[in-house]
Amino acid sequence: MVAVEPYSPKRLDATLEALAAAFVTNPLHLAAFGPERLDRTRFFFRVGLRHMFTGSAFVAVDGGEVVGYMHFNTAPQCLPPPEALPAFAAAELRPLEDAVPRVIEWFARWARLDPEEPHAHLGPIGVVPGYQRQGVGRALMKPYVEHLDGEKIEGYLETDRAGNVDFYKKFGFSVVRDENVIGVPTWYMRRPPR
Ligand SMILES: CC(C)(COP(=O)(O)OP(=O)(O)OC[C@H]1O[C@@H](n2cnc3c(N)ncnc32)[C@H](O)[C@@H]1OP(=O)(O)O)[C@@H](O)C(=O)NCCC(=O)NCCS
Repeated sequence: MVAVEPYSPKRLDATLEALAAAFVTNPLHLAAFGPERLDRTRFFFRVGLRHMFTGSAFVAVDGGEVVGYMHFNTAPQCLPPPEALPAFAAAELRPLEDAVPRVIEWFARWARLDPEEPHAHLGPIGVVPGYQRQGVGRALMKPYVEHLDGEKIEGYLETDRAGNVDFYKKFGFSVVRDENVIGVPTWYMRRPPR
């Protein structure tokens, strides 16, 4: 049975594998890193787990195996300022080689669109392919939605799959903007405070 627990860095490697498996075929990852770049996706999430996902994080665990991950953070800590990205990339993202400019463009755009209003920003959330469509994503969303309702704060997220838009609508999110980012259709969604 799948249980949702707070993330611990003791689970770093298992969580990286789960995130890489969940995201390796996502359109933004394909556009930024190239096809079949599990190595780059895993490295990208290693940097994320160490430096960027500093808010509240949870894992879905089945018999000791990590099968999903969810993180949210409260503005303004949710994304680095766009002007800080090139230096951060030069220091932390060098192994991504030719993908670095695309990663900078991607996150600079997201950072520029980050709402000024107080909000709790979701991302990443991922479930390994073999566990998708079985309620694990819903279980991972629970602590986030409880936080939004408890704090009466707005929810916000970006996504690069049309199917995910339907997933998030089930939790009260609606699309506030859509556009291409590094050539990939991307949706921005908000959930008003309740
Ligand atoms: C998005 C994701 C986390 C959803 O997790 P999941 O475990 O498959 O979702 P669940 O099984 O808990 O689904 C919850 C509900 O959303 C619906 N849903 C899930 N994925 C959907 C999709 N692609 N299209 C339409 N509805 C979807 C389910 O039918 C279910 O509805 P119900 O509870 O009313 O029956 C998962 O698909 C995933 O990890 N995708 C790859 C990585 C990714 O894109 N992450 C999000 C980046 S923004």
